[in-house]
Amino acid sequence: MPQRGFDAAYYDKFYGRGSVHTSAQIEHLATGVHSLLAWWGLEVRSFLDVGAGPGFWRDWYRANHPKVRVVSTDVSDYACATYGHKKADIAAWRPAWRSDLVVCHSVLQYPDNAAVHTAIENLAAACRHFLYLEVPTAHDFDDVVDPMATDMSVQRRSGTWYRRELGRHFRQVGGGLWLSRDSTVPMYELEMPAGDRR
Ligand SMILES: C[S@@+](CC[C@H](N)C(=O)[O-])C[C@H]1O[C@@H](n2cnc3c(N)ncnc32)[C@H](O)[C@@H]1O
Repeated sequence: MPQRGFDAAYYDKFYGRGSVHTSAQIEHLATGVHSLLAWWGLEVRSFLDVGAGPGFWRDWYRANHPKVRVVSTDVSDYACATYGHKKADIAAWRPAWRSDLVVCHSVLQYPDNAAVHTAIENLAAACRHFLYLEVPTAHDFDDVVDPMATDMSVQRRSGTWYRRELGRHFRQVGGGLWLSRDSTVPMYELEMPAGDRR
């Protein structure tokens, strides 16, 4: 897979008219995730958005929870300069601190297998409690995503492949949420899929 250019044309194409998702959609998602974490007794004090692109999640936290420590990163020079992120490749960068909530939304379909393996280790090291992850699988590219609004020039991996990599560090909760195996947040048995209890 050739190295991607995450440049102005890329963000115009996928975040202009007919974008993959909008800030209004992320407002619904971020409200839901933050509220669900509060239901489970977790006060989010620190938030990390990895591969933040236009920075919708970062903006939502800053606007709605200004006391939360927020860091957003991206590998793209253009995104960092335009949207104001720390430049970091998640396959090579591991923060020195842990965040209560880490978001990695529509990023891991870009790096190759070895880089994603390392990226997931870095996400795990960065995450104190919850990871919100969205990454389309081969199945999703075939049957779920809108090919007109989605970047199809990416890595296609199975859900089984991602589950195996993620399962070393996280327990799958559902709805895109993964709980760090180091987290002390208690979960009822039926809040998680069978076979993924501590
Ligand atoms: C589809 S956009 C998603 C942006 C944002 N997370 C969202 O959901 O709106 C993919 C983003 O991932 C970033 N990216 C790709 N590979 C990355 C890596 N190895 N480390 C950090 N960011 C990466 C790209 O620069 C781009 O901004």
